[in-house]
Amino acid sequence: MLKTISTLPALTLLIADTPALFDRLYRYEWYKSPLTDWLDALKVGENVKLLELGCGPGNFARDIASKGVAVTAMDRSEKMIKKAAGGNGAVEFLVGDATQTGLGAEQFDFVLSASLINVVPDGKQLLTEVARVLKPGGTASVLFPTPKFNSAHAERIIADYRCGVFAAGALRLWASKARKLDPRKVCDSFENCGFEPANVSSFLDGGLAAVTGKKKSA
Ligand SMILES: C[S@@+](CC[C@H](N)C(=O)[O-])C[C@H]1O[C@@H](n2cnc3c(N)ncnc32)[C@H](O)[C@@H]1O
Repeated sequence: MLKTISTLPALTLLIADTPALFDRLYRYEWYKSPLTDWLDALKVGENVKLLELGCGPGNFARDIASKGVAVTAMDRSEKMIKKAAGGNGAVEFLVGDATQTGLGAEQFDFVLSASLINVVPDGKQLLTEVARVLKPGGTASVLFPTPKFNSAHAERIIADYRCGVFAAGALRLWASKARKLDPRKVCDSFENCGFEPANVSSFLDGGLAAVTGKKKSA
């Protein structure tokens, strides 16, 4: 009962103002550090073109751009992009559907998406579009919750990070509502969509996985 009540503040913000929720989440270490660790592991150099799909209110895109990367970031929610475009930093923010971006083919060195492949109805449609906009040899990486991210896992993260009421509620909500994907199946989808064999990295103690692959060169 107490745990259900503690999800209420996050649930209320999710319904009332989703951009504000994701903006707030990015201030928590348990939310932000998997994203920054993922980015560090990808070794994105300066002067490359990177597309982030499902960028939400744009905090992560702005942090990537601050490293000298040319970032385009897309979300289908006008509210998210309105909030994103109001912030500082040199990111091109676009409203659009990640499965049908309307962007030119073979433009980007990297395409990243966090918590999107488990949200769209058809992950293969997303990966097909990602492959289309990537340059040959370019890198795609998608981050998503795994089946390990259950309620017991959420409680361990809450304890480890000494989360307050709001953060604990958000974590419980995430663990209970998010669709989880098997990383091996996502690797198979990469191979079926024109990528070389993909690899898996784990974050948040295995609750999140990133699948990363290079687009085949011709
Ligand atoms: C769970 S949120 C993740 C936001 C952000 N990437 C993060 O990790 O904090 C999913 C985001 O994907 C966006 N989204 C959902 N379906 C989409 C689609 N087909 N094309 C583009 N964005 C989409 C939503 O509007 C939302 O901002």
